[in-house]
Amino acid sequence: MQILNVNLKSEQNKNYPIFIGKAIFSNIGELILKNSKAKKFLIVTDKNVYSLYGKLLTDALNGLKFEFLIFESGEKTKNIQNISKIWDKAVEIKLERKDAIIAFGGGVIGDLAGFAASSYLRGVEFIQIPTTLLAQVDSSVGGKTGIDLEQGKNLVGAFYQPSMVITDLDTLKTLPEKELKTGLAEVLKYAFIEKSCEVNTYKDFLSILKTEKDFQNIVEYSCALKASVVSKDEKESGLRAILNLGHTIGHAIEKCTHYEIFTHGEAIAMGLKAVFFISKDSKLINEIYFNEALDLLKIYELDYKIPKNILIDDIIKSLSNDKKVLNGKVRFVLPTGRAQVEIFENIDEKIVEKAIRELY
Ligand SMILES: NC(=O)c1ccc[n+]([C@@H]2O[C@H](COP(=O)([O-])OP(=O)(O)OC[C@H]3O[C@@H](n4cnc5c(N)ncnc54)[C@H](O)[C@@H]3O)[C@@H](O)[C@H]2O)c1
Repeated sequence: MQILNVNLKSEQNKNYPIFIGKAIFSNIGELILKNSKAKKFLIVTDKNVYSLYGKLLTDALNGLKFEFLIFESGEKTKNIQNISKIWDKAVEIKLERKDAIIAFGGGVIGDLAGFAASSYLRGVEFIQIPTTLLAQVDSSVGGKTGIDLEQGKNLVGAFYQPSMVITDLDTLKTLPEKELKTGLAEVLKYAFIEKSCEVNTYKDFLSILKTEKDFQNIVEYSCALKASVVSKDEKESGLRAILNLGHTIGHAIEKCTHYEIFTHGEAIAMGLKAVFFISKDSKLINEIYFNEALDLLKIYELDYKIPKNILIDDIIKSLSNDKKVLNGKVRFVLPTGRAQVEIFENIDEKIVEKAIRELY
């Protein structure tokens, strides 16, 4: 098992460990006892995760006081009614200020439980046990929590850091292929931004990913890169924006297809491909790096196409409605060199349109 520390500069005493390993479920009780002062735990999970791992977690927590609260799986669970259900359950089991809420599942459960933890009794301890690749490399690290409204995704939430993250890589064995790919799109993103993450040691993640098959290294290094970024810019006032590489166009594709046609990972993979076209056509990167990046997307079978019945005009329209629009200008994180990115606001609309056309 490896231990990574997230050292937040902006909040004192808010450093936390990420434990990553295989078959660490049996140690979870011990890890929690050692690292938490809580006496009682409310475990928020979804039906899939509970049916696969509920018994294993129950056995691992033998001796601790805990209760499960189980939701339907899927994005629709991230709503205000379910926040209210978590608060009600917390009151019912008399969860106190020093107790903890545990998120046991993918990003949906992490965002939901995290937001409930941030608000119940003005904030109780929050522990993440992520079980999807996306949650392990992305959503469990960095403290963004929240829910969706009818009007849009992630519109209400809080920055609220966990006290620890416990990642058992064996949970990936039961993850459906399309969910694995959603996480892999984020992993590739880290390779494309590695140098800009300001880590002390540059590993050349891009080259590593061409042959790496072991999730231990992939998850560990992805978390290290995200931890480096969020430790320097917890609340996205600067550096953290680089984590949005591929997300501006990706979100536009997701939004204009009402989140129904593509998974998040598929949309992000297309968004990544598009920014490489924008960068090449804006002469920010050379042909060699452009081809290397597109080849990596192909190696991981993340080279998707948009069906013709989805209109390019609709994608462009939702691009200008994105949260990342600042003063009316669409902000793009763009590759500017191998594993390096920068933020731009004045990209020629024709270049953007051409890049989106390349996705058809
Ligand atoms: N907070 C952040 O920083 C952040 C970052 C990225 C994404 N997100 C959010 O994360 C959410 C997406 O997360 P996700 O992709 O993990 O989706 P998810 O939580 O819906 O999980 C995907 C599916 O996999 C199932 N599942 C979970 N673990 C499993 C396992 N080990 N084996 C088999 N099935 C399993 C779930 O039941 C679900 O059906 C979105 O709501 C997104 O907004 C948050």
